[in-house]
Amino acid sequence: MSVRVAASAGFCFGVDRAVGLVEQTVREGKRAVTLGPIIHNHHVVQHFAALGVREIASPEEVPAGSAVIIRSHGVSRAVYEALQARGLEIIDATCPFVSRIHRIVQEAEANGRQPLIIGTPEHPEVVAIAGWCRHPLVFPDGEALQKWLDDDPKRHDLPFTMVSQTTSTQFLWDSCKKIAKKVCTNLEFFDTICKATENRQAEAAALAAQCDAMIVVGDRKSSNTGRLAHICAAHCPQVFLVDNASELDLPKLRQAGTIGITAGASTPAWIIKEVNHTMSEINTTVDAAAEESFEELL
Ligand code: F3S
Repeated sequence: MSVRVAASAGFCFGVDRAVGLVEQTVREGKRAVTLGPIIHNHHVVQHFAALGVREIASPEEVPAGSAVIIRSHGVSRAVYEALQARGLEIIDATCPFVSRIHRIVQEAEANGRQPLIIGTPEHPEVVAIAGWCRHPLVFPDGEALQKWLDDDPKRHDLPFTMVSQTTSTQFLWDSCKKIAKKVCTNLEFFDTICKATENRQAEAAALAAQCDAMIVVGDRKSSNTGRLAHICAAHCPQVFLVDNASELDLPKLRQAGTIGITAGASTPAWIIKEVNHTMSEINTTVDAAAEESFEELL
């Protein structure tokens, strides 16, 4: 059996930065809360809660005298202004790639253009992006976009600026672009899919194509982890999405010749290491058993 770990598995730049900012806040001895879970990984959230950094749901819940940490997904203008209005110390861990999208949609509206956001409407990053627009239009897929455009042909001549959720797939973005290009007469695109996401997905697909089984490590609430599992399933017969090493289906994995491991952008390195370590231990057992039976044959 051979086990291969994708080089891009684990924290992306934005998540690493956000987690680093929380760690720094703890080191400085500040009282702080995070607005929503700092990342989509309950192990990390619990780790910080044990250090006194708890999660709150709205600006009103921030205790007086506490700093508030904005996660990498960012927040809407209304939320940002509500925090400012309370005079709180704001530690902004919004990923710079996400902040760029906030600027693009604001500029688009300032120039009389209509932002079109391609992404999952209820995803916090998309909610935040929409929250920087006066009239946001969000489409989860090409079908929804096509329907909205077909509903009123007058829409075809509106000036549109199209952006994407950073963790969308290239396939989804390309299909939406194709649909819009066909009918819209005044369209500009900003391919805002994060390259870290794109690389991770491409690497996962390539690795999955060479493996009998793929292990995708991450929190089930993490949408980029779910997407990775989905992508791997298109290239590999067996895909296991696990939260941590204790969820590994060892009897099934022992049957596989080549196993690949990848992980979502919010999966901490120690969980990936633990999974890799468990698989390497089985690997040694399997190899030793193979060696023994080989010796028996001699
Ligand atoms: Fe930022 Fe890309 Fe990560 S947008 S939060 S570096 S997935």
